[in-house]
Amino acid sequence: MNNQDIINEVRRKSDIVEIIGEKIPLEKRGKNYFGVCPFHDDTNPSMSVSSEKQIYTCFSCHATGNVFTFLMNYEHKEFNEVLHDLAKRVGITVNSFAAPKIPTKYKDWYEIYDLAVKYYQNNLMSKDGEEARIYLKNRSIDANTIKEFSLGYALSGRDSLTRLLTKKGYSLDLLNKVGITSNDYDIYHLRLMFPLHDLSGKVIGFSGRIITNSKQNKYLNTKETELFKKGSLLYHYHIAKEAVRVSKSVIIMEGFMDIIRASSINVKNTVATMGTALTVEHIKNIKRLSNNIILCFDGDEAGVKATLAAGEMFSKENIEVKVIALTNNDDPDTYILKNGEEAFRNLIDNAIYFSDFKIKNLSRNRNFTSSEDKANYIHEVLEETIKITDPIRIEIILKDLAKKFEIGYNTLEKSFYELQATKITPTIVVADKKNTKEDKRNKYQKASYIIIYYMLNKQNIIDLVEKEHLVFPTEDLRALESEIVYFYHKYGFINVADFYTYLTPKISLVNLLAEILQLDLKTDLKEDDVKAYFKVIKEYNFNAQIKYLEEKISNSTDFNEQLKYAEEIRKLRIGEKK
Ligand code: UTP
Ligand code: MN
Repeated sequence: MNNQDIINEVRRKSDIVEIIGEKIPLEKRGKNYFGVCPFHDDTNPSMSVSSEKQIYTCFSCHATGNVFTFLMNYEHKEFNEVLHDLAKRVGITVNSFAAPKIPTKYKDWYEIYDLAVKYYQNNLMSKDGEEARIYLKNRSIDANTIKEFSLGYALSGRDSLTRLLTKKGYSLDLLNKVGITSNDYDIYHLRLMFPLHDLSGKVIGFSGRIITNSKQNKYLNTKETELFKKGSLLYHYHIAKEAVRVSKSVIIMEGFMDIIRASSINVKNTVATMGTALTVEHIKNIKRLSNNIILCFDGDEAGVKATLAAGEMFSKENIEVKVIALTNNDDPDTYILKNGEEAFRNLIDNAIYFSDFKIKNLSRNRNFTSSEDKANYIHEVLEETIKITDPIRIEIILKDLAKKFEIGYNTLEKSFYELQATKITPTIVVADKKNTKEDKRNKYQKASYIIIYYMLNKQNIIDLVEKEHLVFPTEDLRALESEIVYFYHKYGFINVADFYTYLTPKISLVNLLAEILQLDLKTDLKEDDVKAYFKVIKEYNFNAQIKYLEEKISNSTDFNEQLKYAEEIRKLRIGEKK
């Protein structure tokens, strides 16, 4: 068996209904099963799982695929890893090719970082680690937490780690390159070491904190490498992605210690930037976890600024985040230390909407002495309020405002609607983008979708499409058709679930396929219908050819050439009539 055959065999033996059913409750309705889609925030059963086709499709977020893609997305694993797991489960040997693959280029890097983690951990537990252990104890960080975050300690030696690693055969060049050494010597001395992980949980660098009063930088980070970029790292992401599944929300904090403290009270759905402003890259990855996002930044002036900036960035992505606004210069770490788990969980439950935070913030440092000041403030609040879509929240805000400044509700409401009319407001939603493509499809595309749908379900349609030299109206449709034909000829059959595996690297085609499969058409197809759809697509081909030739004529200056094209058009038109 070749690799693709083995993959298909593993997939065939792994029943998608059974496997998805172990992760989310499924209920049978008609011939399909339905459950709450785990890939977007929802409470309705919008994901359908087809036992017959062995695929799943979410009608709301359009997540789709076969058993492999489900597990890859659900468990955040690479294809090979999932293949490995499933093969084991169904008793097929795949070790010849399916060992989880680490891009070989970075294999050494990962080994070095892992060795360094162990080295720092050993130091912390050694005799020389006592000062660091005392530091941790003073900060109430217990042994469990130390282990969970793989905390370690760098000793004073000039090149202890360097020597250890060169002895293991790693060159100084490489050690300098990966940021473990600098100019052939250890970088970290007498610092508490925090390993930094990438999104999948592999260590890609370190941050080292001073543990004594010192003028040095509080944290010293690995230099930027091909793997470590300070501006895109999200601390704790690999753990948060599991926790988010249960808590259905993700909390963003500023610092390592905040995350570690929250984890110690079992709040693990947290990520932190490395004290930097949120970047587009951060946002993209956070959105992959959940659309329910809570900002919990430090309770100082900088924290307020960071909250405002981050909230705006998410608004641009049509997400209204929630905010926990700490005060008294607390950060999540100190807040939890002082007030405990219950108090912090209360803060989470009572997080306010970003727009409410912003409105509250507008009244800071204002004394409302002049009518102008008051009016300005009211206008600023209205500017915010028109961004809100929930009419109940709008009414609450307007009523509060009316009460606070003793103005008539109707006056305020009128100003609100006037302002709203002057703006095209961005709709801010929490989840769910509805499919609007449907209506935009023209009849040629619609016919093409139907034919491709049946190509995947009835092999004689593939033969027909080939025989009739059908040309589909868009490049993606043509690409998808040629992939279907290719798969069919290569394996002698076509089935949707295996075709998914095959198509997976080509994202745009997978999305197109998902759209087409959502048609969920009847299994039987009358010959007359096939003919009718073919006719529509051919009409498109015909028009396209005529248009092409007409363009040739108008672009040409050679009379004979123009005649030649005109003749071709005439022949086409005659052929069409027959
Ligand atoms: P904080 O100063 O809030 O750190 O910086 P912290 O995590 O709360 O640590 P403690 O409580 O003082 O021990 C927030 C984050 O900014 C980055 C780190 O990622 C830190 O967690 N930072 C801060 C640096 O990279 N370098 C620095 O010198 C300081
Ligand atoms: Mn702190």
